Order: sequence, then structure tokens, then C-alpha cells
Amino acid sequence: MKFGYFDDGRKEYVITRPDTPYPWINYLGSENFFSLISNTSGGYCFYKDARMLRLTRYRYNNVPTDAGGRYFYINDGGTVWNPGWAPLKTPLDSYECRHGMGYSVFDSSKNGLRVTQTAFVPIGADCEVNRLTMKNTSAEPKSFQVFSFVEFCLWNAYDDMTNFQRNFNIGEVEVAGKAIYHKTEYRERRNHYAVFGVNAPIDGFDTDRESFLGLYNGFDKPDAVLEGKSRNSVASGWAPIGSHCVRVTLAPGEEKSLIYVLGYCENPEDDKWESPNVVNKAPAQKLLSAFTTDAQVDSALERLKEYWNGLLSNYQLDSADEKLNRMVNIWNQYQCMVTFNMSRSASYFESGIGRGMGFRDSAQDLLGFVHLIPSRARTRILDIAATQMEDGSAYHQYQPLTKRGNHEVGSGFNDDSLWLIFGVSAYIKETGDWSILQEQVPFNNVDASADTLLEHLKRSFDHVLNNLGPHKLPLIGRADWNDCLNLNCFSKTPGESFQTCANFESGIAESVFIAGLFVAVGPDYADILRRSGLKQEAEHALCEVQNMTDAILKDGWDGEWFLRAYDAFGDKVGSRDCDEGKLFIEPQGFCVMAGVGVKEGMAQRALDSVHEHLDTEYGIVLNWPSYTSYRLNLGEISSYPPGYKENGGIFCHNNPWISIAETVLGRGDKAFSVYKKTCPAYTEEISEIHRTEPYVYAQMIAGRDAPRHGEAKNSWLTGTAAWSFYDVSQFILGIRPQFDGLEIDPCIPADFGNFTVERKFRGATYRIEIDNSAKKCKGVRSMTLDGKPVAGNLLPVCGDGQKYIVRVTMG
Ligand code: GLC
Ligand code: GLC
Repeated sequence: MKFGYFDDGRKEYVITRPDTPYPWINYLGSENFFSLISNTSGGYCFYKDARMLRLTRYRYNNVPTDAGGRYFYINDGGTVWNPGWAPLKTPLDSYECRHGMGYSVFDSSKNGLRVTQTAFVPIGADCEVNRLTMKNTSAEPKSFQVFSFVEFCLWNAYDDMTNFQRNFNIGEVEVAGKAIYHKTEYRERRNHYAVFGVNAPIDGFDTDRESFLGLYNGFDKPDAVLEGKSRNSVASGWAPIGSHCVRVTLAPGEEKSLIYVLGYCENPEDDKWESPNVVNKAPAQKLLSAFTTDAQVDSALERLKEYWNGLLSNYQLDSADEKLNRMVNIWNQYQCMVTFNMSRSASYFESGIGRGMGFRDSAQDLLGFVHLIPSRARTRILDIAATQMEDGSAYHQYQPLTKRGNHEVGSGFNDDSLWLIFGVSAYIKETGDWSILQEQVPFNNVDASADTLLEHLKRSFDHVLNNLGPHKLPLIGRADWNDCLNLNCFSKTPGESFQTCANFESGIAESVFIAGLFVAVGPDYADILRRSGLKQEAEHALCEVQNMTDAILKDGWDGEWFLRAYDAFGDKVGSRDCDEGKLFIEPQGFCVMAGVGVKEGMAQRALDSVHEHLDTEYGIVLNWPSYTSYRLNLGEISSYPPGYKENGGIFCHNNPWISIAETVLGRGDKAFSVYKKTCPAYTEEISEIHRTEPYVYAQMIAGRDAPRHGEAKNSWLTGTAAWSFYDVSQFILGIRPQFDGLEIDPCIPADFGNFTVERKFRGATYRIEIDNSAKKCKGVRSMTLDGKPVAGNLLPVCGDGQKYIVRVTMG
């Protein structure tokens, strides 16, 4: 069942009924100011950091689930409604929500009044704009009231939801004309405030939540709105809000608009006040004046659309498969930008107060982002590397504002540093910017320790070699990519975090997954060394890659698939000898991607085992069978009920690993079918089962051992976005940046048909037309660049701003 449809021409998903199976959200902003906005106008906004500088309040785990947002209430002769349907939920005559690239539009009508609410964060401005366009479609004149509503958060979102003995005393506002200023803590150490303004004369206002709603009412019963009368309340402590009341009169057919701006402003320390205790409003006035007319809003919206069209034009596909086109051209790339910006901090599943930037997560996010804005990828790489320790290990997370490693979560995830090599290789392949390797980057943010980025890569690679176990496989440490496979933890204390509890380093528990990852990144790393003039070190690295490959083939193979690990007692994990957890997806994906066992036939066998035992209707589960009891020696993985999360869930992040692995074997049909199973556009029809947004990936879909098989959770902020784009763009469609050019190597179903990709790469545009009338899955027979034959399948770097036509014949 569907709850909307894709409007590809406008790059929008159009939700046609408000009661979607879960709030379906969008993100506004891609620089400093960010908002989350649901299909009923719920959500919140923040400046840079969702925990430290939260502008508006949001209560996670609320009842109903999505309560709180930027709300507009219309009181039309006693009929009271919201253009976003919630919170009043008055039945509407029509409703539509369009989520687009950085904006959302609600278009609703009731009793001959049509209201269009357009929400967006303009490029270059620190605010959220909401324009309400109101049209009288009836034959009678109309006079009605519009009440706006936002609830302010007292900045630190964690403190805001815990420290009430203090917080109920500190709320402060100012009202000056049409603008409401939220200035809690401005009198002391803050130099920033929020402003909420409207571009029309107001009839009244409220800034105190209790006065506006009534103490015993929810957002769905605001006294002031229902009575049609603002209280003109001025908050003093308790819960400051912003609400304006505007009366609007419309002749039949007439249309008017109101523009609301909710912004973040800073003042210099010595210029905070206009007069004693009155904030300096100059930055707010400037911000508000930039969005007071429809023409200003229209041009800002236009600029936003151009911005996105520009970004997305770096990779555009034209194939016979409409769903594929829309994922590749629009939504997958869009989600990659969001995951790059948010890491795993703020979504409807991540509360914005928990996790910082993950070292491994952010390094992987680069794979789907680097082609969009390489300069930001570069900065990110240097930030991540600066949190690395001198011995090559890494803080698992760092804080986005301070960019310091997070001591609370600490270190010891032994895969982490290898992802830095992965990310840096991807960056250089995209840009050809070898200079990044010579950047001076500190270790653990201690300036005196700074060395080149290249040195960081060496320490990453060597950290694995310095930590090998009894089978010469990498020691797992606290965990590897699978945060929940805690082989050295043995936690017995209820509630203790598996990520931070004491970890007794057995010196025995080894990860076959890290071994596969090591072999996968090794050749690029060696190439980087060689091209940096370090021939001997390059050769040495390749030897180590061979040793690791041998170790996997010798002690990492279980007969029909790759083993997952050895636990702290040296017992096998992910083996047919195990009673549960016999087979795991991760080493199959990574070892085959790395080419391990391809010529020996093991790779093929391993992927066949995946299809036999792990594949389901909705995607490939992480492990099989799921653990049905808690295992001290395995940790968090066995804490999850069977079929959820890392215990037998369909962890979407590593499904693309299998898809890519299939392309290594040339099995294009299988690669594409794995890709499609978890791809949102292909599961739109089962939205009532899947529940989360049909335009973005979720982290996890319940596996077959769960009662709710097929139900997704944790949409938006997941490595799945980057990996899926990496898979489809570089391996299935096969347009793959390499150090020396653009490799063309599609691996598709035999009946996929011809397709064209337009790819901007290092300053030139390549229009690549792929002819597969031979109905092959893989193999480029010939290729021309502007009519001239190219030997092999690597397009040279042309880099001169021109457009080139590339004709590729598969065969
Ligand atoms: C989450 C984490 C990621 C981890 C994965 C598997 O997605 O953010 O770092 O690799 O879970 O445990
Ligand atoms: C990862 C896992 C999650 C786990 C978390 C912290 O994000 O996906 O299952 O709970 O790490 O332990």
C-alpha cells in the first residue's frame, strides 16, 4: 500500500494522506542551520549541533509519537485547523505534503480556504522560513485568524529535558513589535539568541506556553487559538514559546501570504546589549529583512533549487528503470548529503543528544558524498584523522563542535582506522588531489604531535599488523564494524553499556571481517605509497596483504563460507559447528569484495551460502540463526531479540557489500536483485509493512526471526546511504573513479538494456552511453571518447571544462 507518490520532475515525494505508517520526515538546511520536519509539520531545529544549540524543543518517545513542531493554526469562524493536519487533526478537505530537496510544502484546504505552507532553510542564512500562502476559493469574503507556534528549547537539549529545578526559572524573552526574541541565558554566558518574526502587523502574541495552551491542554487544544484571542503573555521562567496572531481578510478568489522567520543570531561579546538587559537586535533585523517579501522568498527558493540541481548533476542516470533513476539521481544522493551533515546525531530515531560523529561512520559516509562537494569531504577527512591516536588506533567518536575525541565512548574498535584509508582513497580517486597526503594533522588533537596525513594512513595500516592474534588474523578489540559483537566484554551487569564497559583484552579474539577489510584497502594503500615515492614500503604492504589473504584462506574458511571470528577462548564464531550464529554476512561481503578466494572458488561458494541461508524477501539478514539466548562471550549482539538489529535483522548497511561482491564475480543479475530488495523506491508498494519513508534507506529491517519481518526502523542516518550509492553508481552501473581516470565497468542483469550516465569528473563532463545489445552482465568490448577509440576501459582525465561523449559497447 502506498501513502503517496514520487514526483520525479520536481524531485519530490508527495504524501497524499497525513496518517502515514510512521512520521515521514525531511531535512531542511545543509550548512549551519538545520531542521527536521515531518509530514505533519512536526520536528525541531538547531544551529550546528543538535545537542548544544537546539532552538526548538522536541520530546522524543512522546504520545502521540510526533508532537511538537512549527505549527500554524487557522481559526476560520470557529473551524480550527492546521495546514499540516497535526496537531488538531481536524479532517481536511484536501491535504498534500511535498518533501523536496531541502524544502517541504504542505498544501491543504478547508471550507473554501486553501493554505500552502512552504518551509525551507535558505542557502547562506541561519533561519527557517515558513511562508503561508492563503487563498479564498469560496464565493464569500473570508476573515480568519492565523496563530503561529514554536516552543523554544533552552539551548542544551540534554539539560533541557532533565534539569527542571533550574530550567523552570531561567526562561526569558523579549517582544518587540512583530518579533519575539528568545534570550534564555543571554544575560549570563551566551552571546546568541533566537528570533521569531512575521512580516505583517500582529493582533497579539504569546510567549508563555501555559498561557497559550492552558495548563491541562496539549498542542491539540490551545486555549488562545480556540477562543480566538492571544493572551499577550510574556514568559518568565517555565516554558517560553513564540506565537503571533494575525487576522487575514480575503475577498473571493483573493490570495495573500505571511512570511515567518525563525532564526539564530549571535552578537560580539562587547556588543550584546542595546540598553541594560535589552538585547542588541541588529543581526535579527538584518535576518528578518532578508525575507519580508514574496519576491525575496521566491528567489531564495529558486537559489535552493539551483543549488541542488547543481549538486545532483554530478551523477545523472538515464535508464529504462524509472525507480532506479529516481534513487540514483535524486533520493540516494540527497540522503548521502544528510548523513554527511548529521552523521548519526539527529533523526526521528537519533535524539540529537547521544552520539557524536563516528570515526568509522563518517569515513564511510564519504563514499557517497565525495562527488557532491569534495572540498567539504577534504575538511572532514582532516578532522577525523586529527582524532586518531599515535599508535594508529582511534577514538570511536568525536564531538562535532569541539572536534575532539569522545572519552565517554573511547577507543578499541579495531576496524576503525582502516576506514580512514578507505575514505582517503575515495577522496583522491574522485579529485586527484594528492596534496591532501602532505597535510599536517595532529594525533589526538595535540598540535605538537602533528605529522602528514600519509603518516596517519601508515599508522592505521600498521595498527592492524601490530595487533594480530593466534591465527595471524586481526585482533577484534572491543568490536569491529559490528559494534555489537563484543568478544572481550563478558558483561553481567544489567544496563551496562557494551560500548563502554570494561573490556578485557584477551589477545585471542580475532576478526575475519577486519582481515577482509585489510585485504580490501591494502592494494589502494600500497598504490598510495608507491605514488608517494615509497616503493619499498609499497611492496612490503602488498606482502602483508598476501599474508593476510593466506591467513583467511587457512584459518578463516569454514568449508562453505568465511568464518566470522574467533572468540576470547579461541572458539569459532559464525561456523557450521556453532549451534546458533552459524553464518554471518560481513566477512562474506568483505572477503569477496577484496577478491579473497575468487580463484579458489571459495568466493562463489560463500555468496551462494549467503543466498541459501541469509536471503529473505526483504533483504539479507546479518546472521543465521539468530541467537535466542544471551551469550556472555558474544555480548550485545545476543542481547537483541531474534530478528532485530545486529541479531538476525536485515542490517541494510551491509547488503550492498554482498551486491558489490556479486559484481566482483560478474553476477549482474544477483547484484541487482540484492540492490533492489532494500532499495526504498522498490518497496514503496509495501509501505504499510515497511513503515518508514519510501524515499530513504533505514538502518534496519526486521529479519525473518522477528514477528514483524519487513518492518524498518531507524531511517535516514545510516551508512546504508553511502554504501548503496557506492554500490549502484560504481559497481552496478560501473562508473568508477580510479587514481588515473574514470573506469567503466558495469555489472548489470543481462536484460537491463542500454543506459546513459552523465558524470562530472575532475572538471570535465562525460556523457557515457552504454550499449548492451549483446545482453552481457559484465565486460566492456570497446569504448570511444569523442569518436576516438580508447584502449581498455579507463577514461583519461580530460579536466578542461568540456563535455565529452563516450560510447561503450559491452560484450
Ligand atoms: C551502526 C553504527 C555503525 C556500526 C553498525 C553495526 O550503524 O553507527 O558504526 O558499524 O551499527 O553495528
Ligand atoms: C551501533 C549498533 C547498535 C548499538 C549501538 C551502541 O549503533 O547499531 O545496535 O546499540 O551501536 O551500542
